[in-house]
Amino acid sequence: MVKRLQGKSAIITGGASGMGAAEARAFAAEGAHVTIADIASGEALAEELGARFHPLDVTDADQWQSLVAAAEEAYGSVDILVNNAGIVTWGGVADLDEAAFRRVLEVNTVGTFLGMQAVTPAMERASGGSIINIGSTSAFVGGPRAVAYTASKWAVRGMTKAAALELAPKGIRVNAVHPGVIQTPMSAAAGDRTSGTPPLGRLGTPADVAAVVVHLASDESAFTTGADHVVDGGRIAGHP
Ligand SMILES: NC(=O)c1ccc[n+]([C@@H]2O[C@H](COP(=O)([O-])OP(=O)(O)OC[C@H]3O[C@@H](n4cnc5c(N)ncnc54)[C@H](O)[C@@H]3O)[C@@H](O)[C@H]2O)c1
Repeated sequence: MVKRLQGKSAIITGGASGMGAAEARAFAAEGAHVTIADIASGEALAEELGARFHPLDVTDADQWQSLVAAAEEAYGSVDILVNNAGIVTWGGVADLDEAAFRRVLEVNTVGTFLGMQAVTPAMERASGGSIINIGSTSAFVGGPRAVAYTASKWAVRGMTKAAALELAPKGIRVNAVHPGVIQTPMSAAAGDRTSGTPPLGRLGTPADVAAVVVHLASDESAFTTGADHVVDGGRIAGHP
């Protein structure tokens, strides 16, 4: 049976940890040529998966250029980008300092913008592609001490729609995946801020999110662009 991402070249940012690592595993299992791009080391995971690791700080446009060039040279094209790298900082309007606010927007929002900008020419050369931006349920509701994170993820959700319209004529689809609380190093560090069980009766796993990302990366979702995909066990569906 042909694998769902057979022969496609995919870049996954933040691919060394958490959900990005789960996406790298799922993509490799579906036949993709994976480039793991992270500010932290993903060498061991890349070796395990037969993938490539490329160091990347998503806030640096020059690093994006060399990443895309390297992926194109290694695999002949860039067909898929998962803008997954992200950070969270807890603090409210009253107390969060400006530098911390700017840093969250720099990584989560500007990083996602730079990624879309960097892969667009390569995807045009490949006659199309699929970009998946990882937002959050914090792109639909606000968290009381998550003012920067909430701002950054609403922006990711909005940019996804703007980019989808702009890039549709080039055959490039742009969609967003919005996880709820998922068991990763990030949510573990958040501790009791993310407690409580969603309506489906369990917390989410990185594999739950990776399954949706694979679908959006593949040609199964060929007529889907500019769309929000919430993966939260029903948590923001309504009042419990
Ligand atoms: N865990 C959750 O509950 C949850 C919920 C909703 C959304 N998200 C989002 O999902 C994505 C992945 O989160 P996770 O929980 O797997 O987090 P994680 O902390 O386990 O992994 C994030 C990865 O991003 C990398 N990274 C951070 N800054 C970077 C930078 N400047 N350049 C390149 N790489 C960088 C880290 O090194 C790390 O490998 C993030 O965008 C996060 O906001 C997470």
